[in-house]
Amino acid sequence: MLSYKVYGTTGPALVLLHGFPLDHHMWIPAAQHLAAWCRVILPDLGGFGMSPLSFSLSLNQVEHNSAVEWTLADYAAEVEEILEHLHWPRPCLLGGLSMGGYVAFQCWQKFGARLAGMILCDTRVQADTPAAAVGRREMAARVLQEGSGFLPGAMLPKLLWPETWQQSPTVPTDLTAVMENAPASGVAAACLAMSVRPDVTELLPAINVPALVVCGQHDVISPPEEMAAWASKLPRGEFAMIPAAGHMAPLEQPLLFANVVRSWAGRYWPENPAEN
Ligand code: MLT
Repeated sequence: MLSYKVYGTTGPALVLLHGFPLDHHMWIPAAQHLAAWCRVILPDLGGFGMSPLSFSLSLNQVEHNSAVEWTLADYAAEVEEILEHLHWPRPCLLGGLSMGGYVAFQCWQKFGARLAGMILCDTRVQADTPAAAVGRREMAARVLQEGSGFLPGAMLPKLLWPETWQQSPTVPTDLTAVMENAPASGVAAACLAMSVRPDVTELLPAINVPALVVCGQHDVISPPEEMAAWASKLPRGEFAMIPAAGHMAPLEQPLLFANVVRSWAGRYWPENPAEN
C-alpha cells in the first residue's frame, strides 16, 4: 500500500495528492494549518517518496516505445486502497495539485460517489499536446539514464513565482531536495502516464459535489484565466486565486491556502466534529 502521513485527528478527512516530481512534503505547511479542523491525509503517490512503484520500468521500454500499461487511473486505484484501509472516513474530501489534480479526476471517475467534495489546485483538464507528450517521453528516458539531479533546474523556474525565491527561500531549497531524491523509475512512470492522460473537460458537469478550484495568481503552467474558465463548468464549483504565488500556491502561501479551504469547507461541513 502507498505510504501516507496524517495531520490532525478530528473533522472531515481531506486527502491531498502531490504534484510532479514531488511527494507529500509539499503539503506539510498547509496541512499544519488545516489540521486544527480536519484530518489531512497525505499519500506519496506510487513511485514517489516512500511509496514503491508497483512495476519495473526500463530505459529500453521507454526508448523503444514499448507499451507501458500504467496510467493515472492506476494511481487512483492505489489512493482508493488507502481509503479502504481507513474504512472510508466520512465526510471525505479529496484534492490534488497539478499531477495530483489529474489523479484526483481519476479518483472521481473511480469512486466519486464516496467523495463529499473536491479541491483542484493549479491543475489542468486538457490532455497533453502531441509535442508535450514527446517531451514527457524524452524526460522519462533522460531520468532513467541520468537520474533525478537535473529535475530542479528543469522544473523549478516554472513551478515558483520568481519572488518566492527571495520571500521564502526554504521553498526552492526543500523542493530541490525532494526532486533530487525522487526515484528515477517513479518519475519516468509518471511522465509516461501523464503523456497519455485523457482530457477530462466532459467530466466537469458530472462532478456534482462542492468543488474548490484554487490557482496561484502567477501560475504559468495552469494560469488563473484557464482554471477559472473550466471551474465555471463545475455545477458546484468555486474559483479562488491565491495572491503572491505561482504553480505551487499551497506551498508558497500555505496560510492563505488553508484559510481559503477552511472558509469554503466551513460552509458545507460544520467545524464541530460532533456535528459531522
Ligand atoms: C505538476 O506540478 O505536477 C506538473 O506541472 C504536472 C505536469 O507536468 O503536467
